[in-house]
Amino acid sequence: MAKALSRYVCQACGASSAKWSGRCEACNAWNTITEEAPRETAPKGLSGRGGRKLDFVGLEGTTSVAPRRATGIAEFDRVAGGGLVRGSALLIGGDPGIGKSTLLLQVVAALGTAPSGGRDGGPGGASAAVRCAYISGEEAVDQVRLRAQRLAVTGAAVELAAATSVRDIVASLDHADAPDVVVIDSIQTMYVDTLDSAPGTVAQVRTAASELIRLAKRRGFVLLLVGHVTKEGVIAGPRVLEHMVDTVLYFEGERGHQFRILRAVKNRFGPANEIGVFEMTDAGLVEVPNPSALFLAERRGNISGTTVFAGMEGTRPVLVEIQALLAASPLATPRRAVVGWDSARLAMVLAVLEARCGLAVTGNDIYLNVAGGLRINEPAADLAVAAALVSSLSDIPMPDNLVVFGEIGLSGEVRAVSQTDQRLREAAKLGFGAALMPPRRGRRAGTAPGANGGLEAREVAHLQDLVQQLAGDAQPRRAAGSRPSGNNRMIAPTAVDS
Ligand code: TYD
Ligand code: MG
Repeated sequence: MAKALSRYVCQACGASSAKWSGRCEACNAWNTITEEAPRETAPKGLSGRGGRKLDFVGLEGTTSVAPRRATGIAEFDRVAGGGLVRGSALLIGGDPGIGKSTLLLQVVAALGTAPSGGRDGGPGGASAAVRCAYISGEEAVDQVRLRAQRLAVTGAAVELAAATSVRDIVASLDHADAPDVVVIDSIQTMYVDTLDSAPGTVAQVRTAASELIRLAKRRGFVLLLVGHVTKEGVIAGPRVLEHMVDTVLYFEGERGHQFRILRAVKNRFGPANEIGVFEMTDAGLVEVPNPSALFLAERRGNISGTTVFAGMEGTRPVLVEIQALLAASPLATPRRAVVGWDSARLAMVLAVLEARCGLAVTGNDIYLNVAGGLRINEPAADLAVAAALVSSLSDIPMPDNLVVFGEIGLSGEVRAVSQTDQRLREAAKLGFGAALMPPRRGRRAGTAPGANGGLEAREVAHLQDLVQQLAGDAQPRRAAGSRPSGNNRMIAPTAVDS
């Protein structure tokens, strides 16, 4: 028989081909193709009879063990959908140094010190203590111990090991009293000795993960896998890994910010898009139960170009400041720099401002920033971004006590967004007095003070209304004449009498 040929596998998307090339034909990534040894020969298909009959069961049934195990770290539990589900596999992805190892060590330590019983959700909660194992392929045992000291969790019942061989790990865990929770830090360092390719390649990561996941399902323990993220922001190598696990969490944050956000992007056992907010301190990660207060902590009022966006992250309202700066550009192609938002969405808002409101924005350099390191994906931020842009362009500050939300359509209309009441309630809780928002369906347009959780609702049906509202708010401040007027001041403060 001819010698099996090597395969060339893209480390970004997992596509394989018979020859090497500089660019992957499946995902168009450059320099991602590496040679891998052929896979173990697969069975040729089913021949003959054999096989075991499956035991089919009904949908209804009782499970003796509690379905979920809460860790007691509320921010983590919410993202995980209320706790860790027995026999499930979670992937926690994130940039190097973001705090994945720290988070998971804190999670297993919290489980290890949790009072037995009580914490278990659902009926028939198991009363046995939660036994956790932490297997590090990146750090030596002493390094993990040092970290545990720093986190002051050395008293927790956690079994620690440094290992990279999946065969050894499976041999140690494949018995009746396997731990309840197992952390593998990280999946890219694990290797299966039947494959020739190096650890971290698609073949290795996929095989190692599938072996470990199968074991977790068989023995009923929770498997927490750490995965590294590439420059492009996907979990290194295998997108395939995301399909194999039950839950994918991303741990993200801006470098230089102490805030860390744990985000669920897939969850078979709970809501996706839920976030948990942490702060990285000297003694590990600390939960931030009220992220809005944190994101707004450094806000300074009475500055043009800033607005407060009342957003939703999963089921939770989050208020965050959006900052825009427009400056006349010396360049033929003006600069656009966006942090924390989608730049295509910014281009859309700019086009609408120009085409429907007659504002000359495209000749400016534009910088847009979501303060605090949060990434916003909601279209509801459109109106807040537009308000920040108009405010910066006109040098008129938005009122201090105003929150903004609403989606913008291509004709400049402001569209309703979901969960209006929750947004308003959060804004009222934090002391805001008014909301610039889309007209509420079934109500008469116009301001309705007193309603809407105590907030004054300033309804804007079209982007032009926003421009006029802003001009109306401008009168008190402009008397100071704090800045020389440029030639791109579009809104005269007295242009509109509200
Ligand atoms: P780590 O958990 O090692 O990141 P990852 O596993 O995602 O690569 O986190 C490392 C960073 O966190 C490092 O820059 C130091 C910082 N850190 C603190 O600020 N405080 C702490 O208590 C700990 C343990 C780490
Ligand atoms: Mg680590």
